[in-house]
Amino acid sequence: MAVQRQRPHAAGLCLLLCLFAGALSIPDPRLREALIQLEASMQTGGEMVLTDAEQRLDARLCKLKQEEMVRADFPPAMHFFKARDLIRTSPMFSLLQKMPKGGALHVHDFSIVDTEWLVKNVSYRPHCYMCFTDNQSVRFTFLSRWPKRLPHCSPWTLLENLRAQTINVTDLDNSIMGNLTLFTQQDPETVYPSQDAVWDRFEQTFLALWGLVTYAPVFRDYYYRGLTQFYMDNVMYLELRALLPGIYELDGSTHDTAWTLKTYQEITRQFTADHPDFFGARVIFTVHRGVNISVMTAAVEEAMKLQRDFPDIMAGFDLVGREDRGRPLWYFRDALSLPVERGVTLPFFFHAGETDLEGTEVDQNLLDALLLNTSRIGHGFALLRHPVAKDISRKREVAVEVCPISNQVLKLVNDLRNHPAAALMSESHPVVISADDPAMFGASGLSYDFYEAFVGFGGLRSHIGSLKQLAINSIRYSSLTRKQQEKALALWQRRWDKFVSENAF
Ligand SMILES: *[C@@H]1O[C@H](CO)[C@@H](O)[C@H](O)[C@H]1NC(C)=O
Ligand SMILES: *[C@@H]1O[C@H](CO)[C@@H](O)[C@H](O)[C@H]1NC(C)=O
Ligand SMILES: *[C@@H]1O[C@H](CO)[C@@H](O)[C@H](O)[C@H]1NC(C)=O
Ligand SMILES: *[C@@H]1O[C@H](CO)[C@@H](O)[C@H](O)[C@H]1NC(C)=O
Ligand SMILES: *[C@@H]1O[C@H](CO)[C@@H](O)[C@H](O)[C@H]1NC(C)=O
Ligand SMILES: *[C@@H]1O[C@H](CO)[C@@H](O)[C@H](O)[C@H]1NC(C)=O
Ligand SMILES: [Zn+2]
Repeated sequence: MAVQRQRPHAAGLCLLLCLFAGALSIPDPRLREALIQLEASMQTGGEMVLTDAEQRLDARLCKLKQEEMVRADFPPAMHFFKARDLIRTSPMFSLLQKMPKGGALHVHDFSIVDTEWLVKNVSYRPHCYMCFTDNQSVRFTFLSRWPKRLPHCSPWTLLENLRAQTINVTDLDNSIMGNLTLFTQQDPETVYPSQDAVWDRFEQTFLALWGLVTYAPVFRDYYYRGLTQFYMDNVMYLELRALLPGIYELDGSTHDTAWTLKTYQEITRQFTADHPDFFGARVIFTVHRGVNISVMTAAVEEAMKLQRDFPDIMAGFDLVGREDRGRPLWYFRDALSLPVERGVTLPFFFHAGETDLEGTEVDQNLLDALLLNTSRIGHGFALLRHPVAKDISRKREVAVEVCPISNQVLKLVNDLRNHPAAALMSESHPVVISADDPAMFGASGLSYDFYEAFVGFGGLRSHIGSLKQLAINSIRYSSLTRKQQEKALALWQRRWDKFVSENAF
């Protein structure tokens, strides 16, 4: 179960190329076959030794994949909003849902629970107020007294009263739901014509969610339900990027950062006690990259303190927000070097290369993330254009967290067959598949992203060995200690064997 550390068959490749150079007639079919095999073995999971049952399941997967590929409406070639229902009803997807996928290493705190629950459950709780912003968005708050008016927002209305006065409450609820996700039934290319348009909506959506999910009773339920959604999708471990905001109570008081982290820890423990085959969750503390240097410095100081006080739940530190608009990592180099200067361990999990602005300051984030000793790279969409960064990432086993649906919805790529991770996986670059903000994209858990990666990136070439390797990678490249990883892998292997034996026929 060892993860590959270098290109396989380097010596074999040399030998083959010598033969190749000597060819003066029709290419030798044996050489051709050997080259094909060599290439196949280089991909993610290409060297995985498969059991008989795994081979039977692979035959089934291959047949299902062929059926997907001959369709006129091939889902990975379409926008996810249009493809979602096709994916959801495909037999391939139900198999991927059942598959034990290991860990989800790149997901954000406030986009892990379906929007419907936020509207139908959370917004129906007592003391829920809503206002309408100048530009057709909404804001929420829970308070025991009437809240003070927000700038650029209508006077607050008690949602309970508003519903009592509304003729068609379903319409109202649907419009609220529309404000809490990017997903739309309309044509996504029309609604989101540019990266700017989709990111603006993304940020508005986030602000709309904020007042709902940072209310203490909701915050606890939300996280528990988020864990449930991943668990139901056969994900056994989570690394959550979390802003750790001040969570508020009905009387308007707010808790501090440590309280929020402690609450994550408590709920994780409770969830694991309720579901013993769930391995757990850890938190990567995140700060918005739009802040100034003094705020960043304070955040890094705080992260070091949290890392010391909560070593079990704290995994490390990262920056969030749109890379193209925020400040590059290099701008914060002093703050981000504090831990190493003080001899304190604070692992970094930087988002980097979530951009197509080649050659700009932002485009340097990949190399800078590696210089700052990042443990993984979030997205790394631009990695193929940085051969040096790519080489360092491979040699140091700094895994790339690939989030296919996120990259498509946020308009870095249209047809997922053309996603750069297809090339990374063809040479077994260390990668994991993740979901980023599933609820924002109308997805849930990891299976939709696994579908896009398995059917879209790999084409017919990727097989059950690729899936197995991706699941193993998600544990191997997690922030867990070696010892915890061994334990998690053993747990995963038991579930995997069960999955294979139940589905191989
Ligand atoms: C709302 O969600 C909570 C937590 O998941 C659950 O306990 C409660 O029963 C739900 N309420 C309704 C009305 O669905
Ligand atoms: C909506 O309004 C807010 C505050 O008034 C502003 O910051 C934001 O940029 C606006 N968003 C759009 C999409 O116009
Ligand atoms: C309310 O609106 C929904 C969705 O637009 C529609 O399906 C439903 O029939 C409407 N209900 C009433 C009572 O008008
Ligand atoms: C957000 O809510 C407002 C007010 O109900 C509504 O006018 C608007 O259409 C909603 N936006 C979306 C994208 O659904
Ligand atoms: C940095 O930002 C914070 C919060 O927005 C602000 O209070 C502070 O004055 C800023 N500091 C500098 C040096 O600009
Ligand atoms: C790089 O990060 C890892 C993980 O946090 C840490 O163990 C290691 O000491 C760091 N190396 C340097 C040179 O900072
Ligand atoms: Zn992200």
